[in-house]
Amino acid sequence: MTSHLTIRRPDDWHVHLRDGDMLKAVVDYTARQFARAIVMPNLTPPVITVAAAEAYRQRILDALPADADFTPLMTCYLTDGADPEEIARGYEQGVFAACKLYPAHATTNSAHGVTDVRKLTGLLETMQRIGMPLLIHGEVTDRDVDIFDREAVFIERVLAPLVRDYPGLKVVFEHITTAEAVDFVAGSGPLIGATITPQHMIINRNAIFDGGIRPHAYCLPVAKREQHRLAVRKAAVSGSPKFFLGTDTAPHTVGRKEAACGCAGIFNAPFALESYIQVFDEENALDRFEGFASEHGPNFYGLPLNEGTVTLVRGGETVPERIVDGDIDLVPFHAGETLGWRIQG
Ligand code: NCD
Ligand code: ZN
Repeated sequence: MTSHLTIRRPDDWHVHLRDGDMLKAVVDYTARQFARAIVMPNLTPPVITVAAAEAYRQRILDALPADADFTPLMTCYLTDGADPEEIARGYEQGVFAACKLYPAHATTNSAHGVTDVRKLTGLLETMQRIGMPLLIHGEVTDRDVDIFDREAVFIERVLAPLVRDYPGLKVVFEHITTAEAVDFVAGSGPLIGATITPQHMIINRNAIFDGGIRPHAYCLPVAKREQHRLAVRKAAVSGSPKFFLGTDTAPHTVGRKEAACGCAGIFNAPFALESYIQVFDEENALDRFEGFASEHGPNFYGLPLNEGTVTLVRGGETVPERIVDGDIDLVPFHAGETLGWRIQG
């Protein structure tokens, strides 16, 4: 049995680092594990200008410990009025790495999101021309569509037509949760990729209702049936370059999770790599872990692979029930569990 695994330093292609005290409390968990991360722009107000992204990037850098070796890659939050010239300028200046499309009201801080992708025609043409990736939260928001069907319906109604209309556009279908999404991405051309979170490979929807309502297992897109979890796992360990690591770590304080209307989001940053490697180990696919964690993402984005390595060792620690930093009180993914792997310090 393999006792340790050394891989090229990985990146996280989908994180919520937040702002203010929360940013200070969580950023180091991501920076300790990953060389780079694609930072989501769903702040209040959202990051929609080059100046806002530069200022946010600086706040992230300021929140890091002095010895950190971590590069935040910034994204632009798309609204109906998104300005193609501003966005292209941000991409060309190396400030924006990608644009993020939230359908309006799909999830946390998405009230300013896009009401209809047809409103983005000029922008999508520009992005296609300059090679700028479009990252999509792929769920319809119509309340008449069952919450467990919203991703599959999004493919049919929005994503398939979009990919057909912009055949040269790079698209990342974020945090996929269904067999339909796996099939869509696998069956599309090389410009269509997907990120996969640890939680969508580890829990199914039963975890949200396990003996009572479990707010810390609730995120969006919501975990689906077992058959979907198995399909997502299979895609991640398949070795296909279309699937890569994106934790979607989304911290909310305990008070905001354990509430009558609790926020969506799982805080998985503290043990993200340990969580992922456990899945690859269970699937007898440790030889494919480096591709998923460290190669497929940069290759898709057209960025260099990281230098340096990280070593994971069998025999993990017990995940704390709570992570407290001043007034910030968080419950991490896997709270109270003992993991199978740890990072060699
Ligand atoms: C995210 C958040 O809290 O910002 N929540 C989540 O459940 N993933 C938003 C998102 O990415 O959907
Ligand atoms: Zn997210």
